[in-house]
Amino acid sequence: MFKARSLLATITLGTAFIVSGCDVKVKPIEGGKEIARELERHKIKRLTQQDILNAAQKYGDSVVVVAERLHVLQLTEHLNQGGVAAAIPYCQPENFEKVEALQHKFGAISRRFSERPRNPKNLARGGTAQALNRYSSDQEREAKVEALNQNEIRYTSPIYLRDETCLSCHGTVGQELSESDHTLIKEKYPQDQATGYKRGDLMGMWELTFDKMDLVAFLNDQPKKSRRPR
Ligand code: HEC
Repeated sequence: MFKARSLLATITLGTAFIVSGCDVKVKPIEGGKEIARELERHKIKRLTQQDILNAAQKYGDSVVVVAERLHVLQLTEHLNQGGVAAAIPYCQPENFEKVEALQHKFGAISRRFSERPRNPKNLARGGTAQALNRYSSDQEREAKVEALNQNEIRYTSPIYLRDETCLSCHGTVGQELSESDHTLIKEKYPQDQATGYKRGDLMGMWELTFDKMDLVAFLNDQPKKSRRPR
């Protein structure tokens, strides 16, 4: 049996030599097709900077859509159940579990910023303030992406007051926002500036910072590259 097989190999190799001149034909590897398929699956796509920016735009949009939808749902539910006091813990959509999971998947971190915020931590500064100014001065009304540096991409999207629910906490004090609810808000946010808004007003901006390596890793179905703290 052994002899027969080695004889066969000799014949095959010999034939290969004859057929192909001098280059030796390699015997097919066992399971070669599966390996090739696996390699294809892991093949690193050649992505241009424009492909990466387009992806940031697309995934930025989906994080914002999910966050805003959940925000309104949570607010409506808790306002109905227990008024402003019950709804206050649901005012940070960027920290909702589902939103965090989604942004983590795409390698992004999301924040909301304003020129006159309720929480002073949300005051736009530096480059963020410049980006927000493009919306507040009406030069821009749509979501936008730009490379911040070699490693990061910034996605921004304006936040307009579209839903009546927002007025219960951001409307005019003494009208849509009652004095007593405003007092409640001021207890937690003594520096609150986020009142007096009307339907259609710009309230601020979403800013998502994508780690480029993490986004590329996601697009290639590979593990995350960055060592960002989570
Ligand atoms: C139950 C009261 C309540 C309602 C209703 C509400 N908000 Fe707020 N909003 C808050 C609180 C409290 C904060 C501060 C959150 C924080 O600490 O980051 C806030 C913060 C914000 C911020 C971040 C900038 C800032 O002012 O700190 C934006 C933007 C915002 N709200 C938009 C909206 C929109 C749009 C709606 C309607 C979909 C809405 N809010 C409805 C209470 C409310």
